[in-house]
This record gives sequence, C-alpha cells and structure tokens, in this order.
Amino acid sequence: MSKMQKYIAGALVLCVAFFGLMFARVIAKPATKFELRQIPEDQKLTRMAYAEAYPLQFNSYKMTMDKSPSPTGFGGADAYSHLTEQPEQIELFKGYKFSIQYDDDRGHWYAGEDILNSKRRPGQLGSCIVCKGSYMYDVYFKESGWEFASKPFDEVVAPIKDDEWFGCSSCHDPETMKLRIYNQGFVESMAELGIDVSKASHNDMRAYVCGQCHNEYYFKKKEDGRVHMPFANGLGPEEEWKYYHDGHDPKFDYDWIHPDSGAAMLKVQHPDFEVWTDSVHALNGVTCVDCHMPYMRQDGVKYTSHYMTNPLKHYDTACAKCHDESYETMLHRVQTINDNTFKLLRMAGQTTARAHKVIKAAHLAGATDEQLAESRQLVREAQWYWDWVSAESAMGFHNPDKCMKALGISIDAAHRAIESATAAVKGGQLEIEAMPTEPFTDTKFADAIKPGMAPPAQAPAPAQ
Ligand code: HEC
Ligand code: HEC
Ligand code: HEC
Ligand code: HEC
Repeated sequence: MSKMQKYIAGALVLCVAFFGLMFARVIAKPATKFELRQIPEDQKLTRMAYAEAYPLQFNSYKMTMDKSPSPTGFGGADAYSHLTEQPEQIELFKGYKFSIQYDDDRGHWYAGEDILNSKRRPGQLGSCIVCKGSYMYDVYFKESGWEFASKPFDEVVAPIKDDEWFGCSSCHDPETMKLRIYNQGFVESMAELGIDVSKASHNDMRAYVCGQCHNEYYFKKKEDGRVHMPFANGLGPEEEWKYYHDGHDPKFDYDWIHPDSGAAMLKVQHPDFEVWTDSVHALNGVTCVDCHMPYMRQDGVKYTSHYMTNPLKHYDTACAKCHDESYETMLHRVQTINDNTFKLLRMAGQTTARAHKVIKAAHLAGATDEQLAESRQLVREAQWYWDWVSAESAMGFHNPDKCMKALGISIDAAHRAIESATAAVKGGQLEIEAMPTEPFTDTKFADAIKPGMAPPAQAPAPAQ
C-alpha cells in the first residue's frame, strides 16, 4: 500500500468506527439482558408485585407520581383545569360533561385514582376502564368479550383493586414481559386500516403500546359500547372526520347535541398517536419511547426509564442523544411551536364558541332548522378540527404542520358557520348572548335548542 492508500484506509477505519459508535449510541438496546422473574399468578396485573423483581423499571415508573411543572409552561404533570385556562371551552362543551370538569392529565400512576374521582363519572359505562390498565382484557375480555363495556361503570370497577389500575401488564405480556397490545379496540381499528398489529416490528411496537390508549376513539353505541377508533380512512384529522360521515359506522352520529346551536357534536380524545404518525420524528423512525422512555444507566446497568413525562425534563438522555443543540436553544424552539399553536388554538376555539351563540341568536330570531342546517354542520366541523389539536397532548410539538393545518381549517369553518347563520336572518339584528365564565354543574338546560331534524346523514365533503 502506498502512503496515500494507508491514509485513506486509516480514515475509512476511523469513519466506520465513528459512525458505528454513533449508530450504536442511538439505537442501542439495553446491554443487560433482564431475567424473566416469577410473579405470583394472582398479582400479575399489579405493579407492587414487580417492585423487587424489576427495581430499576419499577422505581422509575413510580416517578410518574411526580407532579412537577412542564419546562415549556404547557401541559405538565399536575392536573389543572382547561376550562379555567381557556374559558371558551365551557361554551364549546356546553351540554356535555367536559363543561363540568376537564383537567389536564397526570402521570400513569394516577390513572385509576383520577377516573374514580372524576366529576364526569356518574352515569358512565364500563367502556371507560379500557385505557386505565389491562383488567378489561385479562379478566373481562377473556371471559366474555366486550360484554363489560355496556355495563354500569360502578359495577365494572368494583372488583378492581387499587394496585391493579395501570399495572406493568398495560404494556407487557405478564407471562413473557414482551411488549403487547391488550386494547382490542386498537387491534380491531388498526386492522380496518390494513395493519395487523400482531405482526408489528419491534420499533413499531414502541409506538403502538402507547398508541393503543393515546388516540382518538369513540364508543360504538347500539352495538355493545365497545371502544373503537376512526382509523379506517387514515390517521389524519380529515380522514377521521370523513370516517364519521361516510357510513363506516352507520350507528354512530354524534356525542351530544349542543344546547345553544342545536348542532350534533363530536368530542375528540387525545390523538397523540395519529399526530405523531407522520411527523418528522416518526418518518425517521423515532417513536414515543425514544423520547418519553430514554435509556438510563445505574451502577453500570442500562435500563429503560419508565418515568413517562415531558421529555424536556431529561433533555440529555431524551433528546441530546440525537440533537446537538443546547438545552436552552431546543427549549426555545419547542416553546415557539407551543406559542404559535396556542395562539391559533385560542382563535379557533373562541370563534367556534361564538358560532354556537350566533346560531342560537339566529334561531331565536326566527331562522328555521332548514336554514340553519349548513351552519350547524360547519360549527360541528370547526369544533372537530379545533378539538383535534386541543385534545392532543404536546401543544403542537409532536407535529407542528399537521396541527397548524387543522387549526386553519377550524378557523375557516367557524367563520363560515357565523356567516351562514347570520345570512339566515335577513336584515334582522342578532342579539348574541354573553359567554359562560364558570364551569357548569349540570348538562341539562331548560332553553336547549332541539332541532326538529336529525343531523344530516351525509356531511359535505371534508376540506381538501
Ligand atoms: C393503558 C393505556 C395507556 C397506555 C398503554 C399508555 N398511556 Fe400514557 N396515559 C394514559 C392515561 C389514562 C393518562 C392520564 C392519567 C391521569 O391523568 O391520571 C396518560 C398520561 C400520559 C402522560 C402525561 C403525564 C403527565 O405528566 O401529564 C404521558 C407523557 C404519557 N401518558 C405517555 C405515554 C407513553 C410514552 C406511552 C407508551 C410507552 C403511554 N403513555 C402508554 C393511558 C395510557
Ligand atoms: C406504558 C407502557 C409500559 C408500562 C406501564 C411498563 N412498561 Fe416496561 N417497558 C416498556 C417499554 C416501551 C420498554 C422498552 C422495550 C423495548 O423496546 O424492548 C419496556 C422495557 C421493560 C423491561 C426491559 C428492560 C429495560 O429496561 O428495557 C422491563 C424489565 C420492564 N419494562 C419492566 C416493567 C415493569 C416492572 C413495569 C411495571 C412497574 C413496567 N415495565 C411497566 C413499556 C412499559
Ligand atoms: C421527538 C420526541 C417525542 C416523540 C417521538 C413523542 N413525544 Fe410526546 N412529547 C414530547 C415533548 C417534548 C413533549 C412536551 C411538549 C411541550 O411541553 O410543549 C411531549 C408531550 C407529550 C404528552 C403530554 C405530557 C404533559 O406534560 O402533559 C403526552 C401525553 C405525550 N407526549 C405522549 C406521546 C405519545 C403517545 C407519543 C407517540 C405516539 C409521543 N408522545 C411521541 C416529545 C416527544
Ligand atoms: C432517536 C433520535 C431522536 C430523538 C431522541 C429526538 N429527535 Fe428530534 N429529530 C430527529 C431527527 C432524525 C429529526 C429530523 C432531522 C432533520 O430532518 O433535519 C429531528 C427533528 C427535530 C426537530 C425539527 C422538526 C421539524 O419539523 O423540522 C425538532 C424541533 C426536534 N427534533 C426536537 C426534538 C426534541 C425536543 C427531542 C426530545 C424530546 C427530540 N427531538 C428527540 C431525531 C431525534
């Protein structure tokens, strides 16, 4: 070899070693192979029984009890009221239980406690326990399928012990400790999208285990109350909107009738999985687990952190393994996304809330159900796209473009709803009621508008 060739060969070896190390750093699996421990059969759905067997994972999981604030000022590990933070939500959810109490989420440790203490609990059904741990699957579903879902909530939760809410079995098969998806609603809905989750790759599982609960779902009404996701057309706000109108589920039209506008409304639930699914990160194979469950090291043992919270609290382990920016620079970047999203979110929410009041005023001024049909459909649409971002958990960060687009569609639809309702009252002066400022204590209203016609079966095509 000439001197030059030696240099080149040397440089190549260095390159391979350098990029190899980089690669290993990013995708490395825990070096320590963990042993499968024996957990007593009757304690497999708990968490305490795993404390000694898997102390590193257990202790980090216990950290989800932490209530520290969010470094960005959005979200955070303690419950605060969305109704107080954004009072327009009181009007938006009027007539539905979310106008009574709508608090921000806390850590997984509290999942059972929070649902048992919720002011929205009275009158709920068994289906509400689906995303609070694997009891629904390991006990009820294995016994009698979805039967539990339409039984009274109180009856269904009675046998569940405190420590059986959100156990390790929520993500792990308790026999093998392999990642698993227990929520059969997710399995069924992904199948409609053509995805067989039982054949998922290991990396896909690192998103699906979270996606099984962090998604937009609804309860199939007349069938058996089972939990289902509107995934069949795809995982965007437009595709999911279309799902609710194109006959995929002829038995489900709406969640509630808004007492002011008389519009048939849909409530969106936290579509974190769908928001993430075509983000820059997802397209680069970066999953929920990469950011929310970074690898840790203790006494030379490498393990996966189970402290699922705002990853910016652990910038070095969660983000800096891939990003070179300083914490301050990245925090600023995330906050800019948050601020922009929040600003448009408020605009969309406030305009949509106004649309409900304008439709009410038009109705009181004599506009007929037929004349108001278009504006009712538009306010339903505006609120759907607003809520798709509002209910998502990371104030735009998970996928800024997708969130901005949804908010743009929402703001446009809300203005068109107002225009359409105003046009229905020729020359008439509309008297717009003041917005409510305090959460409601009930969902019944004596002056509720009950439109004389059913919601249109065929909605206008979703925005392009
Ligand atoms: C069994 C359903 C379920 C699964 C599986 C699940 N979550 Fe959650 N998650 C919840 C619920 C319910 C809450 C809210 C709990 C509360 O407010 O009491 C929550 C809350 C959170 C929070 C908010 C914590 C805070 O500080 O506010 C984060 C972050 C989170 N989950 C991330 C994840 C990640 C990452 C995964 C996958 C590794 C995951 N979740 C899997 C149901 C689930
Ligand atoms: C919200 C989902 C979720 C819950 C709840 C959960 N785990 Fe995990 N766990 C994971 C994920 C994701 C991994 C990473 C697996 C992988 O990529 O192979 C993991 C990995 C592990 C591993 C493998 C070693 C390691 O550290 O990577 C063990 C052991 C483990 N978890 C134990 C537990 C125990 C014990 C509990 C209950 C105290 C628990 N897990 C609760 C999602 C969860
Ligand atoms: C690239 C890293 C990254 C990925 C991938 C990611 N997240 Fe997040 N997530 C974040 C950050 C950062 C925040 C906090 C954003 C903020 O404060 O503005 C967050 C916030 C959240 C929250 C709210 C936490 C709180 O404080 O209330 C939940 C819940 C959540 N993510 C769940 C998920 C789920 C489920 C997935 C996968 C489908 C996922 N995340 C994928 C980085 C990520
Ligand atoms: C496993 C690697 C990995 C992790 C972990 C990771 N990222 Fe990224 N991130 C990427 C890749 C790859 C890109 C795309 C790079 C590009 O296109 O330039 C990206 C892009 C971004 C972008 C630009 C997004 C856009 O729309 O252009 C931001 C902001 C970002 N990441 C923030 C974070 C934060 C905050 C965390 C921690 C919570 C984090 N990332 C964790 C790999 C990662």
